[in-house]
Amino acid sequence: MAHPGKRHAQFIAPDAFAGHTLFVTGGGSGINLGIALAFAAKGARVAICGRSQERLDHAVQLLKAEGGDAIGCQADVRDARQLADAFARTSDELGDIDTLICGAAGNFLAPAEQLSPNGFRTVVDIDLLGSFNAAQGAFAQLQRTRGNIIFVSGPMATMPHSAQSHVCAAKAGVEMLMKTLALEWGQHGVRSNSIVPGLVHDTEGLRRIFGAASEHDMAAHVPLGRLGSVAEIGDVALFLASPLAAYVTGCTLWADGGQGLPGSTFFNRIAGDFLAANPPRNQAR
Ligand code: COA
Repeated sequence: MAHPGKRHAQFIAPDAFAGHTLFVTGGGSGINLGIALAFAAKGARVAICGRSQERLDHAVQLLKAEGGDAIGCQADVRDARQLADAFARTSDELGDIDTLICGAAGNFLAPAEQLSPNGFRTVVDIDLLGSFNAAQGAFAQLQRTRGNIIFVSGPMATMPHSAQSHVCAAKAGVEMLMKTLALEWGQHGVRSNSIVPGLVHDTEGLRRIFGAASEHDMAAHVPLGRLGSVAEIGDVALFLASPLAAYVTGCTLWADGGQGLPGSTFFNRIAGDFLAANPPRNQAR
């Protein structure tokens, strides 16, 4: 479960993102808050939005404890006008947005035949329409800063998951939105990329989808043998937002310990069981 922790501080200077304004939708908790904290720790000014003021207030305290400016704007990503207010406040108080994280998402398990149209629509509205609302609403600021967008996608964007028809459809749409914006907004110097987090320790998404499974069992299906941490997803976002990725746009970066590789679960286990029972005759020297 170990995160390289302090080691990453040596690779990225503490003030690497000084003067940089980050906006994170759904930034009050989980992976999105982890990304916000990663930027705050490197000197960024951070704005987060979400539906719960209480959650935002708590998160802003944590962000300020990293030493920088932070604000929480109550806004539902499904409502473009609420987002417009949040973006205007961010520009006034923290400066134009350099990096937008489209992270707000909804999830629950529901077999397709039992899912109501409103249940399906709710997740598509939060994940896909909400990402579009945020990207379009922030565009003017991103154009001025020649900034970038990072979508928090999911393996469901390309791998079908049972009881996740709503999420798979929404995340597939998010991936195409990300790529389309890379095409359209490249001429403005605005980059657009996405991160696919795998199984991330101690997150609401993990509890909602895999509540019954133990983290130990889940780790057995990950080639790196462990779950990821929110801090590790934050590190990937720092890379994509940094000048190190200045020529990277339209890309999906999987940060999942290899779990999304098609052979990672069933075939890996079968091969391991087979080799345990039938040791290979020719050992490599
Ligand atoms: N199974 C089946 N349907 C469900 C459901 C579940 N577990 N949870 C909600 N729904 C349905 C509701 O029944 C409703 O449909 P209906 O009007 O036909 O009955 C519809 O989804 C909307 O539910 P509601 O609770 O009104 O939506 P909301 O906007 O308040 O909440 C959710 C959005 C449903 C996505 C909620 O789970 C949420 O707030 N999630 C945010 C956090 C999260 O999911 N984090 C993990 C991200 S990976």
